[in-house]
Amino acid sequence: MRNKITLQVSIHKSPTIAYHNRALQSHGNERRSVPISPYPPFNDRIEIILRVQRIFCCNKTGEDFIDERCSTLTRDHSPFGLLDLSINPKRARERERRSNEREAMTNDLEKAISTIGVIGAGQMGSGIAQVAATAGFSVLLHDSDTAALGRAEGLISSSLRRLASKGLISQAAPDEAMKRLKLASSIQELCTADLVIEAIIESEAIKKTIFVQLDKILKPSAILASNTSSISITRLASATSRPSQVIGMHFMNPPPIMKLIEIVRGADTSDEVFATIKSLSERMGKIVICSQDYPGFIVNRILMPMINEAFHTLYTGVATKEDIDTGMKLGTNHPMGPLELADFIGLDVCLSILRVLHNGLGDDKYSPCPLLVQYVDAGRLGRKRGIGVYSYQKSSNAAKPEDVSRQQE
Ligand SMILES: NC(=O)c1ccc[n+]([C@@H]2O[C@H](COP(=O)([O-])OP(=O)(O)OC[C@H]3O[C@@H](n4cnc5c(N)ncnc54)[C@H](O)[C@@H]3O)[C@@H](O)[C@H]2O)c1
Repeated sequence: MRNKITLQVSIHKSPTIAYHNRALQSHGNERRSVPISPYPPFNDRIEIILRVQRIFCCNKTGEDFIDERCSTLTRDHSPFGLLDLSINPKRARERERRSNEREAMTNDLEKAISTIGVIGAGQMGSGIAQVAATAGFSVLLHDSDTAALGRAEGLISSSLRRLASKGLISQAAPDEAMKRLKLASSIQELCTADLVIEAIIESEAIKKTIFVQLDKILKPSAILASNTSSISITRLASATSRPSQVIGMHFMNPPPIMKLIEIVRGADTSDEVFATIKSLSERMGKIVICSQDYPGFIVNRILMPMINEAFHTLYTGVATKEDIDTGMKLGTNHPMGPLELADFIGLDVCLSILRVLHNGLGDDKYSPCPLLVQYVDAGRLGRKRGIGVYSYQKSSNAAKPEDVSRQQE
């Protein structure tokens, strides 16, 4: 006998994608709701008809998701020889047609991207501009501070030469990349960009102002990406008239070295824009992970509480900064200690992210440590300022790491 099962699947936009784990089992005219997970209580062969009830949004299309789920079900149950999967061939053909269409649209969009604008020429923006120029894109780099633009040009050039001397890029690559890089002192000069990646300070209000400006000057097809570490992509997108073309593209620091890009989908980011940015990131030699749009996304949601706890450990006198960092390096195999890493990221950036986590998730466990707040108030922003938790100043009069530690203790 062959029973018929209809799985009613709901795919939710949530970090843990949930689906109904009950099925309707038909026995002649009788229909019963039965659990399908982990193993169905069936003792003869069954046929599965998958019916998508609701698809809110997920990284994959609903159908890809179902395919994945089906193979899991089949695998899970195969030892029992119970499950037989049948998918309507007409539906399968239709799905293939739609998937080809999507792929063609994504390829067209990706091909259409030849010029990338980068806004903010600080640690991240300059690194992103370097990665994009090395990957063959024309790059327009803008910063409101012209001195920052000059510094970025020098840093990019020396970083490219260092990579070439280590054989990580070809000898010709630095000159070629520098030819593709143009400095733009006015935001208007970015009007020809097909994609703009914003990497200015971590402030929602200032980022929104930039997005409003970009929305007015860019062509209608252009995509807007933000390198924000924590701010809602959905809210940034809502400041524009093109929310489906707004996406988070979170590079790690330093962008030329770090392999990861965390892509963040806003509530309205289209599948095509997501697929385009994913494949463009891969063209830049990066590995992509995808996060839904919740404060801190994946990486900083986990990293920042650890950094904050390291500050609390220092603040409450549990240990010296050196012992905290050595403990985490040698005890948990991290390449950098959390305080060293905070200096590297920038203490102001860490503080902003913690505030976004605290406000957005409403849990006091994210409340920034008073010591971190005090360091930022004092202008001790980390490596970029020559002093943070540690001192990086070369002058003999400058505070040495030990002195900084004693000031704290
Ligand atoms: N630092 C990190 O480790 C790290 C990692 C990933 C993502 N991010 C994110 O990248 C973004 C930039 O961080 P950063 O560390 O490069 O900061 P940064 O302070 O080094 O650089 C910010 C740059 O933006 C410029 N800027 C500020 N307002 C501007 C405006 N209105 N128009 C044009 N330029 C403006 C500043 O002049 C400065 O050069 C932030 O959103 C941050 O959260 C940082």
